[in-house]
Amino acid sequence: MKIIVGITGGIAAYKSPELVRLMKKAGHEVRCATTEHALQFVTRATLETVSGTQLYHNLFVDNSSATEHISLKDWGDLLVVAPATANIIGKVASGIADDPLSTLLLAFSGKPVLMAPAMNSLMWSHPAVQHNIKTLKSWGIHFVGPAEGELACGTSGPGRMVEPEEIVKYIATSLHSSAQQTLSGQRWLVTAGPTYERIDSVRFIGNYSSGKMGFALAQALADAGAEVELVTGPTALSISHPRIHRTDIESAREMYTAATATYPTCHGAILSAAVADYRPSECADHKLKKQGDEGMNLTLIQNPDILASLGKIKKTGQLLIGFALETDNELQNAQGKLQRKNLDYIVMNSLRDTGAGFGTDTNKVTILGADGSRHDVGLRSKQEVAFEIVSTITS
Ligand SMILES: Cc1cc2nc3c(=O)[nH]c(=O)nc-3n(C[C@H](O)[C@H](O)[C@H](O)COP(=O)(O)O)c2cc1C
Repeated sequence: MKIIVGITGGIAAYKSPELVRLMKKAGHEVRCATTEHALQFVTRATLETVSGTQLYHNLFVDNSSATEHISLKDWGDLLVVAPATANIIGKVASGIADDPLSTLLLAFSGKPVLMAPAMNSLMWSHPAVQHNIKTLKSWGIHFVGPAEGELACGTSGPGRMVEPEEIVKYIATSLHSSAQQTLSGQRWLVTAGPTYERIDSVRFIGNYSSGKMGFALAQALADAGAEVELVTGPTALSISHPRIHRTDIESAREMYTAATATYPTCHGAILSAAVADYRPSECADHKLKKQGDEGMNLTLIQNPDILASLGKIKKTGQLLIGFALETDNELQNAQGKLQRKNLDYIVMNSLRDTGAGFGTDTNKVTILGADGSRHDVGLRSKQEVAFEIVSTITS
């Protein structure tokens, strides 16, 4: 892989030469780009020696090509910013390009970027920094860390850059398919979020699904080069990727219509939405009034089973992956669903596991294959779990 290591002005920059060395040892070609402030912490000579190439650190003066940021962008498969200061995170989130690295970061659009933030805990927890990170994540920028522990300023807390070994490992496990564009030319369907089943003009039956897992899957597939049709129920999440095409729906029947229309032209589908099994048999077109002191009965009728329907129309060579959120008899129930619905894989998560399931930023899953395979993914961010799922089902 061709990797550009971007280095900014944080104390953890002293670890960047070691990161470059480990990347080269892992077989990657590496070039370095720095901000002006980074060179207060690590020298040009060190970076040029460990990388074996000329450092990109000045927009205008000593580069052979006047548009080095564009030729570097064409050269690189991946841009890793380690350490990433609060400043560079803020600049990218605001579209500022006033030095070599921030200019390269904006030019790198459409290619994977990984940031390893490092800063004092107070800076890390500042709403501006958190807001900027949320923005960058919604644009598909990957983050590893920060870790918790002793900080250079003498305090302790979140803000340490993760160790270079961990960054190299993250690239190998989570970013390989992104940088290699292994799914280029493929089209995938992803469903995400909850469904809302209307009771009347102002009320509905819903569930707690946030859509985070499905959005992370759409991102992982698009990063790997696929065109993604994301059909999502109501969610506060936003996503912005040139290869993700989003369709917003509300009810299970709307999701069914969108999914069955899209799947026939797709290479595969991952159905992670939490679809309501039932809906009210009638939906009032006005707000229902309370009547006396009596209770109220709602009659529910079954919704179409989207997963089973796609399993029936699945053609040879197409893949179909479902999710099973179980509370008991997890393995047995998931395996039954895998066979009954003609799936290739089922991703099982249990509500009994802390940090797994609805609303959280993390998940812990087991991927069961129709071929009898089993792959356990321990508690990790939904983004990392999504990469594991995508690499398991497409390898
Ligand atoms: C000794 C020292 C250590 C610093 N460490 C950090 C750090 O770890 N993270 C950070 O975000 N800023 C740190 N700063 C502040 C940045 O250097 C400053 O925000 C600078 O403008 C960053 O520029 P750059 O992002 O263009 O490299 C440090 C400053 C000094 C003087």
